[in-house]
Amino acid sequence: MKGIVLAGGSGTRLYPLTHAVSKHLLPVYNKPMIYYPLSVLMLGGIKEILVISTPSHVGLFRGLLGDGSQLGLSIEYAEQSRANGIAEAFVIGEKFIGDDSVALILGDNIFHGPGLSGLLSDQCENVDGCVLFGYAVKDPERYGVGETDGRGELVSLEEKPVRPRSNLAITGLYLYDNGVVDIAREVRPSARGELEITDVNRVYLRQGRAKMVDLGRGFAWLDTGTHDSLLQAGQYIQVLEERQGVRIACLEEIAFRMGFIDSAACYELGGRLGKTDYGAYLMAIASADH
Ligand code: DAU
Repeated sequence: MKGIVLAGGSGTRLYPLTHAVSKHLLPVYNKPMIYYPLSVLMLGGIKEILVISTPSHVGLFRGLLGDGSQLGLSIEYAEQSRANGIAEAFVIGEKFIGDDSVALILGDNIFHGPGLSGLLSDQCENVDGCVLFGYAVKDPERYGVGETDGRGELVSLEEKPVRPRSNLAITGLYLYDNGVVDIAREVRPSARGELEITDVNRVYLRQGRAKMVDLGRGFAWLDTGTHDSLLQAGQYIQVLEERQGVRIACLEEIAFRMGFIDSAACYELGGRLGKTDYGAYLMAIASADH
């Protein structure tokens, strides 16, 4: 399965923070925001990744992540000329996706919870149709919303409904079979002129091939869309990292634990970070494995 991180858009809701910088490079405590969605793909065992961003920002991501080989990944880059909608990722990424299935994650989505790696690798296997991940929230009208029947089967999907039929938000992590490229090409732009991901998911729903996995309340799905929620996301990460002494979305550690790189490479990556706690942490976990 291939992976796409969509990190374009203009980030207007975070102005003036995002006047000159991509939202997805803003700090969430001690790392750039994009580390968090990237870590999710890595935890699912995905190593071939396309990062899509705006023409003015894409070079910054390349500068940050390079070709991914230092993490045992292959990372490619593509541009989205303007915010034409989330589903445009599949049109832009058509060549990259090739004949594979694909996971899409939005560059501003942060997930944290027990068993994420196992859950994802299970769901990533043999995707037939699409797999959506639901999360109960108190303000579902801000998101894509899924309605399920008594057996947990998806019955409706709506984008930012004024009167939501449930409190289950559809998070920004989506798994698709290869048919998504054709579906994205056929979807018409919405009233706001975007290729909506919810419209793509509705095609799968009509075909009876849209599956919903409810993440449940043990998970954290954090918002970064406003100044307050961005700060709160950083505080959440800080509190947990401080309390537990482990790092969340530490790409180098994940690459090491997933077997994408060996302990010597992990140690070296730590050394490159100089006298930071982050670097010392990497060197310590790499040394503990010797
Ligand atoms: O976060 C989950 C929600 O994301 C879903 O529940 C909604 O169904 C989905 O439409 C989306 O809603 P948002 O209002 O959060 O979408 P937004 O326009 O803020 O963009 C989300 C991310 O995707 C953000 O990191 C920017 C990026 N993006 C978005 C668009 C529309 C792009 O890179 N290109 C785009 O054209």
